[in-house]
Amino acid sequence: AKEDDGSSGSGSGGSKALVLGFSQVGSESGWRSANTDSVKAAAKEAGYTLKFSDAQQKQENQISAIRSYITQGVDVIAFSPVVVTGWDAVLKEAKAKKIPVVLTDRSVETSDESLYVTLVGSDFTEEGRRAGKILEKVIAKAGLKGQVKIAQLEGTTGAAPAIERAKGFKEVMDADHKDDWKIVVSQTGDFTRAGGKQVMAAFLQSNPDVNVLFAHNDDMAIGAIQSIEAAGKKPGKDILIVSIDGVKDGFVAMSEGKINAIVECNPLLGPQLMEVVQKVKDGKPVERWIKTKEGDFMQDQAAAALPTRKY
Ligand code: AHR
Repeated sequence: AKEDDGSSGSGSGGSKALVLGFSQVGSESGWRSANTDSVKAAAKEAGYTLKFSDAQQKQENQISAIRSYITQGVDVIAFSPVVVTGWDAVLKEAKAKKIPVVLTDRSVETSDESLYVTLVGSDFTEEGRRAGKILEKVIAKAGLKGQVKIAQLEGTTGAAPAIERAKGFKEVMDADHKDDWKIVVSQTGDFTRAGGKQVMAAFLQSNPDVNVLFAHNDDMAIGAIQSIEAAGKKPGKDILIVSIDGVKDGFVAMSEGKINAIVECNPLLGPQLMEVVQKVKDGKPVERWIKTKEGDFMQDQAAAALPTRKY
């Protein structure tokens, strides 16, 4: 894993700066880069000493980063878990050393709820539901008639946003579109542009009649758009596209008519995270889940919203 010893805290003079060990998933998407920048800037602003490590989407790298933060005796550990399972052992080690753990962005599945204090992040199941609801509007607007044949580009296998976005979307399908919508093909694109491009190319070979793409993030949608165009089809017209995140490049694609709607997932979690970290360090109570506020955007809002996008 790439480590930087983040001398972002003031560190100099006065009382000892709070030391935060942060293990990031990787740098797989525009969302992730914005999240990393937000965390680094907010730690600096708060005057913390940030120890930052990029796990390059590998759980073993995250586990060894967390272990190294435990050995170093940081004040608080925060991390965005690449997948939901497999954390109990290392979290128990942190607990044994009385180092509180704050989850950010993604959740974990654990047999012992006391192994982390709180989660600062989005409700991904709700994002999946919102994607389903906004797809209804997109279909109505496009006047698409007949069977809706959906290709789904899933996020990283085993990651909370991949599991929960698929679940929320399916809830809407099962409740209101049992007969008229069908997911005809679904596979992971690992939240990357390259993954989205490659998997969409394969989808178009195996299922040339898909008329909707639901991508679990903008980057995969942008990669998929390249394959759709290479196949001689028009993204946003021949294949309606709904994605999640709301990064600038997603808004650019939407303003060009290539993405039909975006469900926002806000990566700017840094300031909230630093506030929570301070409270946790001071032993103050915090909510179990601090949810992020987000909006939905249709294509006709893209051009006006683009200049105001912060990530
Ligand atoms: O966990 C949040 C997800 O991870 C974002 O939607 C995606 O872009 C990122 O890689």
